[in-house]
Amino acid sequence: MSLDLKSLVRTIPDYPKKGILFRDITTLIEHPEGFKESVERLAATYRGQGITHVAGIEARGFIFGAGVAIALGVGFIPIRKKGKLPGETIGQNYALEYGVDTIEIHADVVSAGHKVLLVDDLIATGGTAIAAVGLLRRTGASCDDAAFVIDLPDIGGAAKLAAEGVRVQSLIAFE
Ligand code: PRP
Ligand code: ADE
Repeated sequence: MSLDLKSLVRTIPDYPKKGILFRDITTLIEHPEGFKESVERLAATYRGQGITHVAGIEARGFIFGAGVAIALGVGFIPIRKKGKLPGETIGQNYALEYGVDTIEIHADVVSAGHKVLLVDDLIATGGTAIAAVGLLRRTGASCDDAAFVIDLPDIGGAAKLAAEGVRVQSLIAFE
């Protein structure tokens, strides 16, 4: 477990808007060892910590979150963009580095006594992750841990998430 994961992430300038340096994880996940090591390193921190569910944020958070849930032997919660879940939902609006969006979960997916780990590919402003943690906590479940493959520390999202009482792990930082 000693791959240079950062070298497997491709950077594409001016996507999806001029001025954004897009950190593209498709090159990481098409590398079999890179993908496997990313999931294993994300999961390792949480073994024996009583995590009952992993929640992943659509779409890229599903890729890593599903792997971490399997690695930890717990169930997976898809946090979906608006209008995609068939049952009764609760939702939260949030601002992105390049737009606005709404995420939803099924209202009955977790409740008090559950301990949820949030997983996503990347944290930038933290808007998505903070909305996800708020949504999960509204059910009565705890969500005090979040794991990301990539942090963009200059944008400050991880610090904002930590200020919400969340322990934040990331594998790679792009300053
Ligand atoms: C990206 C990324 C995170 C979020 C991070 O998702 O996968 O979920 O932005 O940004 P933030 O910290 O500023 O909120 P995006 O909404 O682009 O959706 P996608 O996964 O469907 O590509
Ligand atoms: N999501 C938000 N900001 C991003 C960035 N710079 N690269 C990839 N995904 C992102």
